Amino acid sequence: MQKVSIPEDSSRKISSPSHNSYVLEGVDPHQTTQVAPPALLQPFSEELEQNISSRYKSVEEELKSHLGEPFYSDSGFILYQGDSTLLLDRLSNTNLEIDLAITSPPYNIGKEYEQTLSVDEYINWCSLWMSQIHQVTKANGSFWLNVGYLEVPNKGLCVPISYLLWDKSPFYLLQEVVWKYGAGVSTKYRLSPRNEKWLFYIKNNKKYTFNLDGIRDPNVKYPNQKKHGKYRCNPLGKNPSDVWDFPKVTTGEKRSSKERTGHPAQFPLGVVERVVKASSNPVEIILDPFAGSCSAGIAAVGLGRLFIGFELKQDYCELAVDRFQKFQKERTNFYIQGSLF
Ligand SMILES: C[S@@+](CC[C@H](N)C(=O)[O-])C[C@H]1O[C@@H](n2cnc3c(N)ncnc32)[C@H](O)[C@@H]1O
Repeated sequence: MQKVSIPEDSSRKISSPSHNSYVLEGVDPHQTTQVAPPALLQPFSEELEQNISSRYKSVEEELKSHLGEPFYSDSGFILYQGDSTLLLDRLSNTNLEIDLAITSPPYNIGKEYEQTLSVDEYINWCSLWMSQIHQVTKANGSFWLNVGYLEVPNKGLCVPISYLLWDKSPFYLLQEVVWKYGAGVSTKYRLSPRNEKWLFYIKNNKKYTFNLDGIRDPNVKYPNQKKHGKYRCNPLGKNPSDVWDFPKVTTGEKRSSKERTGHPAQFPLGVVERVVKASSNPVEIILDPFAGSCSAGIAAVGLGRLFIGFELKQDYCELAVDRFQKFQKERTNFYIQGSLF
């Protein structure tokens, strides 16, 4: 990531230093903590705390009456262990509406948490749960789908899953975002893969949440450039564009990311933080039906939203709960330290 210093005139702040600070500084956001970057540890106002707490109680109650007891539930973070199509079906019988769904499903590439399907079966299965997500999403809600590549026998080795799935649900595709990252597998007979895609879907193309100011990139090369006496650049920074640069959660001796849990396909918190900020507001409900280590849940709760996660494997559920509890402790420590200074 390129590090660009921002010369500023003192009368004007292009951004607050905490705003997307890892993008600004081009560094690992987890320098200070293994659990979450400071942006996800900020205290909320008393009013927001109360709103979250009362909405959480009613959401939890409604879920319990249709989905049964959760695997874990605390402070706005609700996790169910089970098959996502079954749980989505039950969710559709509740009175709850999802504001934002964020997910990365199995890619059908033989990972330890996958059941291998033919390409057609895989497309049909994805189309089923994407349609179920559409059904439970609020009229102005969004769905962000992260996908990589798979082999289509006799046709292609690294076929973008987005080519296969983009129109296989009733959602409206607003755009595709390229997520590029530095580290990854090295290949000898083709180019080393260094990107995945996010498909940004909405339900209603006339009305949807998009908080551009919440995700502006302060890494502006010429922040003081003027046109007709007016600054050209928004004082909060520039639109972060449809190419995002966030390091992947790496594994391995001496190169393992600090936020790495035992899950083999974890989202970096930075990338989900941006999606949550862009496409939802405080106290809204965020769903991840393939929750894994619950990165989306950490970002959601850290930003004052409620989280519903579905995950099939018990060991990932346990790992996610352990991660969430560490995150809650870290938040408490962060408040205490903040109030001491
Ligand atoms: C790509 S991983 C998601 C990782 C997650 N984004 C994170 O940050 O940790 C996909 C997850 O889906 C889970 N999974 C696979 N089939 C499932 C199913 N039918 N229902 C629910 N979860 C499932 C896997 O166990 C795996 O944890």
